[in-house]
Amino acid sequence: MDKFVVRRSGPLHGTVRISGAKNAVLPILAACLLTDEPSVLNNVPQVTDVSTMVEILRHLGVEVDVAGPRLTVRPGRYTGSAAPDEWVSKMRASICVLGPLLARRGRAEVSMPGGCVIGARPIDLHLKGLQALGAQVQVEHGKIVVKADRLIGTPIHLAGAFGSSVLGTDNVLMAATLAEGTTVVEHAACEPEVVALAEFLTAMGAELQGMGGPLVRVTGVDRLHGAAYRIIPDRIEAGTFMIATALLGGDVTLEGVRAEHLGALIDKLREAGAEITKRDDALRVRATRRLRAVDVTTLPYPGFPTDLQAPMTALLALAEGVGVITEKIYADRFMHVAELNRMGAQISREGASAIVKGVPRLSGAPVAATDLRAGVALLLAGLAAEGETDLSGTEHIDRGYERLVDKLTGLGCSVRRVAVADAAGDAAAAHSLGA
Ligand code: EPU
Repeated sequence: MDKFVVRRSGPLHGTVRISGAKNAVLPILAACLLTDEPSVLNNVPQVTDVSTMVEILRHLGVEVDVAGPRLTVRPGRYTGSAAPDEWVSKMRASICVLGPLLARRGRAEVSMPGGCVIGARPIDLHLKGLQALGAQVQVEHGKIVVKADRLIGTPIHLAGAFGSSVLGTDNVLMAATLAEGTTVVEHAACEPEVVALAEFLTAMGAELQGMGGPLVRVTGVDRLHGAAYRIIPDRIEAGTFMIATALLGGDVTLEGVRAEHLGALIDKLREAGAEITKRDDALRVRATRRLRAVDVTTLPYPGFPTDLQAPMTALLALAEGVGVITEKIYADRFMHVAELNRMGAQISREGASAIVKGVPRLSGAPVAATDLRAGVALLLAGLAAEGETDLSGTEHIDRGYERLVDKLTGLGCSVRRVAVADAAGDAAAAHSLGA
């Protein structure tokens, strides 16, 4: 059990290298189940969600060698078809083994995910898509079992009340690669992570057209082979460092990024007063004065990403003026608001919106991360606040940010990871694990 001890920091200076995208590698690891041949993935971030997916693959009978950022996945003739509850309950993204297991083994079993801390997260679109391909779906005793002797391509309309589904699209695309005939996914998610999966599937021998757009056509093939792939940069990690620089001031260069994946954030940060320049695969962010409030609405890609909503709320908490944040993906993803208010922010909720009245200063306080992005938002707020902030729930942040403390301290931030002896926070026995 760890906590972060955070002190006021900034301005930030230096260079930070962005890691591979967690949300790209998770479905790509699942896609490795579509063949018995080995695949090699490079630039894989060392975060706990990746370890969880690796454990799920191992449980299914797949060998996975982890050598730093390089993973070799050897499915061989794996025999498992059920993802273990113990791991699935830790990570909802485990649902993306459904499509590949169904296509390759004719059967897949995953425990039914419930709601989670960022709100209701139904999987009706995943199931609708797999059923359209010919799968029988049973939900019993808290488990989803999907079965099919053969899958047959068909047009599938995959829009839900909140638009497209990233992992729902992934599941259907993966299953369709080995279906008979042609599948057309209408209202496919367009996120760069879906394109990355489509690139990997293509490298495995799948036939896909239209990836990155809302209509994706998949022509089924008899078999897929192993492939090598370099995971794309994590646009959410990059966005987090951009927001940190804009909030704390300074001059930071991010290396290994794809600026074209960050258009909506770049636009909002410029509107707020930050200076952003692009060069090859680098982005330079400069901020010399307090930022102006802006309004932000989260939307599917290329709109403003919901995964940057919480960090952006932390930025607006200290901006000049009033900004309105509207969530169009997860109407209840506002767990960070009450914690930010404990630090002196003035944020009120109105349905799926947060009205953020910028204040000149925040003050450090003990706060708790409830999920990955809420956690990192509180960390940024702590770096901007007067005094010290004790942030518990670091395990949420470790799910998706690689070497975050090292990267932040490299830019001049004061943040330490401290082991807490027990869940009650026996501070007396705590010892520092270093910056
Ligand atoms: N939805 C449905 N039915 C479904 C699936 C989704 O109504 O069957 C709704 C959701 O409730 C939500 C919207 O559709 O309102 C979009 O959800 P989506 O399915 O796209 O989310 P996801 O694929 O489960 C991925 C990311 C999330 C990210 C969302 C939205 C991964 C592993 N997870 O989840 O990332 O917030 O897309 O962009 O790729 C995070 O990294 O912190 C994170 C939560």
